[in-house]
Amino acid sequence: MDIPAINEDPQETPAWQELQRHANDFEKIRLTELLDQDQDRFSQFSLQVDELCVDYSRNLLTQETIRLLLNLAEQRHLEQWIVALVSGAPVNTTESRPALHTALRNRSGDPVDVAGRNVMPEIESELAAFLKFARDIQTGDCVGHTGGRFNTIVNLGIGGSDLGPAMVTTALSDFRNPGIEAYFVSGTDGIQLDQVLRQVDPATTLFIISSKSFTTPETRLNAITARDWIVQHLTGDAVGAHFAAVSANQAATVEFGIDPSRSFKIWDWVGGRYSLWSAIGVSIAIATSPSIFVELLEGAYAMDRHFQTAPAAANLPVLLGLIAVWNQNFRGITDHVILPYHQRLAAFPAYLQQLEMESNGKSVRRDGQPVDYSTAVSVWGSLGANAQHSFAQLLHQGTQRISVDFIAAVRDAEGHENQHLQTLSNMLAQADALARGQSRQQAQSGREGRGVAGPDPQSLLPHLVHPGNRPSTILLLRELNARSVGMLIALYEHKVFVESVIWGINAFDQWGVELGKHLAESYAGALVGRGKNDQITNVAQLIQKWREK
Ligand code: F6P
Repeated sequence: MDIPAINEDPQETPAWQELQRHANDFEKIRLTELLDQDQDRFSQFSLQVDELCVDYSRNLLTQETIRLLLNLAEQRHLEQWIVALVSGAPVNTTESRPALHTALRNRSGDPVDVAGRNVMPEIESELAAFLKFARDIQTGDCVGHTGGRFNTIVNLGIGGSDLGPAMVTTALSDFRNPGIEAYFVSGTDGIQLDQVLRQVDPATTLFIISSKSFTTPETRLNAITARDWIVQHLTGDAVGAHFAAVSANQAATVEFGIDPSRSFKIWDWVGGRYSLWSAIGVSIAIATSPSIFVELLEGAYAMDRHFQTAPAAANLPVLLGLIAVWNQNFRGITDHVILPYHQRLAAFPAYLQQLEMESNGKSVRRDGQPVDYSTAVSVWGSLGANAQHSFAQLLHQGTQRISVDFIAAVRDAEGHENQHLQTLSNMLAQADALARGQSRQQAQSGREGRGVAGPDPQSLLPHLVHPGNRPSTILLLRELNARSVGMLIALYEHKVFVESVIWGINAFDQWGVELGKHLAESYAGALVGRGKNDQITNVAQLIQKWREK
């Protein structure tokens, strides 16, 4: 299957131009009015899929906005792009390959062809192999060199080979295997690995080297350090028993000393930031259980089905992607903040940073033409409650134009009923405060109502004004479990893809990370007096000098 035409500028579509005219109307419209005028706004601007509900009613938009955005999607051939994505067409145009993370969680039994060959049998056999490995570790059928049962796994990886599995393992802590402690080491200066090695027992520790390329220097250095540590504490013969690997570069894993039966394969068409569904997720399966991992895949598959079959107007990833485009390209939003109100989702903002910004942080379209419109904005965030006591001040009264995603689970699985309610009510309060703000009059009467006597209320009042009108979206899970986490992640993956189609960029390459990698190689040599770097800067010279004892 081919990909749709890739040569137009989205700004030249009639829908983009209509949206620009439409956006002018919003200079006068306030979100408070929209919320007050229509008591039914929630039912008009929310959508539930399974046990995931998204309330986008606090964005500055109307039904007319949605209609125009849907026209834009049509004029950008979104429907054809979705088919191209899931059917294995080479949507990653600069690397001439598909992006088939959906095949990794395809539970339908239907074939998926890449260059005329069905890849599903290979995916299923690799899935069975790494889930069996996970099970064998949990049951004790697979043990360490001295016969000790593994009670610790250490995933060594970086970027997509770390953030995804680490985030999901934290999110699913309630389902973790009590006999296994999982660590994720991505730190490049040796400190993080050192800290872990000081806590764990070599006889019962399994290292998993996760690296699609198996050439990423940071991961290789950590892997070599861990291998030396095993050799030092056990013996050279122990390496095979204490290491597993996941990579598309099987030859390199064997050369490193990995036993081929513990070297799990991924394919070049699995993007790093989309890889947690592959064997890169083996640490999730060991830390929780193989059946939990399957539930995660099933959740993602449910979202994939929805993405492929729901009409655009009732399609969650499509709507979220289009609303992001609206906010960024027509409402001037420059930052997107992720605020989970659930401790287990603490790692979600960092995970989304890579997903959104490595995918869509591009300034050249697929056809090689430079863009002169905003693509991915800055994504950042933290646990919502912590944010309220640090950077939320800027969200409410700062000068930037920021949109926010709030994420929460309704059911409290852990018996902290009261604290959980407090957390949810804080989230709702934040969403309303951003949307409605607080006028001078409201500030004054609020103070009077509370009997607050300030030193000089009149001069204080300007400081109490909250401009409001700041867009946000609430993503509500009924409960946090493997299925809902799978759905949530797949929702964001597809949202990012929708944005990329509208902007005409390739969401699946990352050329922007290469230059720094090459430069680092020549600096590393020059800093220790090996090789030459003609660009060596003053600061590098200072580093050289200070390194001298
Ligand atoms: O440098 C960026 C990147 O290539 C990411 O896309 C990827 O997730 C990460 O590095 C790790 O790469 P690898 O899995 O090949 O070690």
